[in-house]
Amino acid sequence: MDKIRPQDLDWASLWQQANHNKPSQKKQATDWDQKAASFATRTVHSVYTEKFLALLAPQPGWSILDVGCGPGTLAIPLAQQVQQVCAIDFSANMLSILKKRAKAKGLNNICCHQLAWEDDWAAHGVQPHDVAIASRSMAVTDLKDALLRLNAFATKRVCITDRVKFGPKDPDAFAAIGRKKATTPDYIYTVNLLYQLGLLPTVNYIKLEGTLHYKDFNEALASYTWMFKDLSPTEKHHLKQYVDSIATRHKDNSITLHRRHVPTWAFISWEPTPDLPSPIRYKANAITRRAMSTKKSHRTQIQF
Ligand SMILES: C[S@@+](CC[C@H](N)C(=O)[O-])C[C@H]1O[C@@H](n2cnc3c(N)ncnc32)[C@H](O)[C@@H]1O
Repeated sequence: MDKIRPQDLDWASLWQQANHNKPSQKKQATDWDQKAASFATRTVHSVYTEKFLALLAPQPGWSILDVGCGPGTLAIPLAQQVQQVCAIDFSANMLSILKKRAKAKGLNNICCHQLAWEDDWAAHGVQPHDVAIASRSMAVTDLKDALLRLNAFATKRVCITDRVKFGPKDPDAFAAIGRKKATTPDYIYTVNLLYQLGLLPTVNYIKLEGTLHYKDFNEALASYTWMFKDLSPTEKHHLKQYVDSIATRHKDNSITLHRRHVPTWAFISWEPTPDLPSPIRYKANAITRRAMSTKKSHRTQIQF
């Protein structure tokens, strides 16, 4: 058998092969619309935000592009620390929560764009920023394209978080309902692909809480149901039994769930380079990007 050398591996293709998440099975904007309110409530006090911000170490002069910004988990605290935040998400409800939060805090340095990863951001007026982030939002159909895109839209740094093994999904829940957890590719593909693109990624890890708190059992069950598509009545029954088995019930009806597998996110960052072979549609942008890297960033108009 021929020896396999690291340079023979095409990580972009390996990722495509390993990515069994067909577009039809991926969460759509409407799915995220429905999830928006509960996601916003659940993530506002998570240790995740604190740890992400500590690793990012935002600088007051930065302009930041936040892709898949959700309800502003990071965009809101970042807008309080940096000069300008541009928030992109394809879910209208997520953006609507972000805008309400920004208004409540009197923030006027966030602009929002309802756009998908796949859209032509430049055509919608999105400019390169000092730093581009994509936090827990790398559910893309083409990893290489997404990484090149982030690289093209940042001049100083790109920071993303990607799943380590199962990510936020509880593998015990899959086992409990008799489903095999789909082996979708995790961060190790991303790191290797970046290396293959000639970039030097730094990797840190963000470990989440082992316990989850919910206002009642139904909320806990809804959160677990979100992990699956098209549950049969039998699967629903087994899922309920599983959630019950890891729950501690409190006097006020609230629930604590104890997960055996604590989710970990890989925080991957790199210094972007203009020398990468950009996908054709970002080429024009590379010119703006080079020009931008030589001048100081400035505050832009609020675009609610
Ligand atoms: C898990 S949430 C993360 C939100 C936020 N970045 C955070 O860390 O809390 C994923 C977000 O990505 C958005 N998203 C998912 N797929 C997307 C796509 N193809 N284009 C744009 N946004 C997408 C969802 O609407 C959702 O707001």
